[in-house]
Amino acid sequence: MSTIPSNAPAAPTIDRLPVSLPQLAEKKRLGEPIVMVTAYDYPSAVVAEQAGVDVVLVGDSGAMTVLGYPSTVPVSLEEMLMLAAATRRGLRTPLLVADLPFGSFEASNEQAIASAMRFVKEAGCDAVKIEASGTAAERSRALVAAGIPVMGHVGLTPQTATALGGYRAQGRTAERAHEVARDALALQEAGCFAIVFEAMPAPVADLLMERMEVPVIGIGAGSATDGQVLVFHDLLGIREGVGARFVKRYADLQAEMIAGVRAYAEDVRTQRYPGPDHTYSIDPGELERFRALLG
Ligand code: KIV
Repeated sequence: MSTIPSNAPAAPTIDRLPVSLPQLAEKKRLGEPIVMVTAYDYPSAVVAEQAGVDVVLVGDSGAMTVLGYPSTVPVSLEEMLMLAAATRRGLRTPLLVADLPFGSFEASNEQAIASAMRFVKEAGCDAVKIEASGTAAERSRALVAAGIPVMGHVGLTPQTATALGGYRAQGRTAERAHEVARDALALQEAGCFAIVFEAMPAPVADLLMERMEVPVIGIGAGSATDGQVLVFHDLLGIREGVGARFVKRYADLQAEMIAGVRAYAEDVRTQRYPGPDHTYSIDPGELERFRALLG
């Protein structure tokens, strides 16, 4: 890598105040949609900052999108901390939330607090997100009591997708919809400042919204939620395939990136790159002296 940062992304320049938890609650009250997107590193954070989103999530989807794991399950706390710290360095304004990865919070409230504290103290996150599971409400209550804001996540919860029968919409039977409702209400009651609804029928989300007092961010849950979240790589097309039904593609960057690297490879092989514009000059006198020094 070049040590001269001439191609480094422009530093964030948007002059807005950092997004706060009360501001998100106010947006819900006013009916102003909340925009959330995932990011996993400095460049994606700079993009989110410059695009003016409200909340950035260092999702454990990064296990798949940037670390190449087959699911979100294997990603470690250390790996997530590295992604979160890099994302922090590219952000000033959006609220920064990081996913507590699978295995970092289930064992005890103490384990959850220790893991979440690392996101706040070492990576500079504002809050953590926890996926609904047997222990999530109790852990959320403990985290909130320890002073760490928590975002809940119900419906399709990829960390426990195996137990849910795979990556599929949840709440398509009355019983399962009722379980999702119980999870959402338990997390709300535990003090979560916001909750993600992932992959559920829109009418189920609509009914649930009547009981939600905290902001709800939807992903594949219809339009009644207080905001929406999409995975950075899905919305920008930095991946193979089309992804889940709810994904809307706003760009096809993978194709652009492949075309760019192919053009570079072609230029190198045909010696069109580097050209005179890409090389440094030296004073002829210095060059002569150098030749002499070389003997
Ligand atoms: O990890 C992630 O990207 C998420 C979002 C889909 C909400 O949890």
